[in-house]
Amino acid sequence: MAVAIYPGSFDPITYGHIDIVRRARKLFSKLYVAVVANPHKSPLFTVEERLRITEAALAEEGVNGIEVLSFDGLLIECARAHRADAIVRGLRANADFEYEFQMALTNRDLAPEFESVFFMTEKRFSFLASSMVKEVCSYGGDVSTFVPASVDRALRKKLQTGG
Ligand code: PNS
Repeated sequence: MAVAIYPGSFDPITYGHIDIVRRARKLFSKLYVAVVANPHKSPLFTVEERLRITEAALAEEGVNGIEVLSFDGLLIECARAHRADAIVRGLRANADFEYEFQMALTNRDLAPEFESVFFMTEKRFSFLASSMVKEVCSYGGDVSTFVPASVDRALRKKLQTGG
């Protein structure tokens, strides 16, 4: 079975991401969750915080056997370093397609040895985005249906107490 890498900003990880991890894990013998150090959007959490939050969230949800790592620079270099065969991404609605298509084709041009594999989101997570979760939490809204309790706590600490 193949090795896969699931890259993203994970700022922070949500139930939508965790659903993709759960499903991808069944198809691949090894799955890495790769947290990008410098996303194009400026992140709320540092890369160390995102690593820690992602690990804690997966543990809390009972998703075991996943290696969470961070990377800087090109994703394909990280994929090469970890001997991955596939790049996993989640697809929500139409809005994701253009971006994912562009990214997959760019990665394919740079490194044709990797196959990009897309998992369609579960219907109930199709609207879910880390940016929305941050916004709701920043105004004091309840995000417990979007993220595990450990992520909820990290968000509140960061957004509501400035920590
Ligand atoms: O969760 P995101 O922000 O949609 O994830 C985007 C990510 C991290 C997968 C993408 O920005 C990425 O791969 N960044 C690393 C730089 C890179 O390899 N760029 C070329 C591919 S477009």
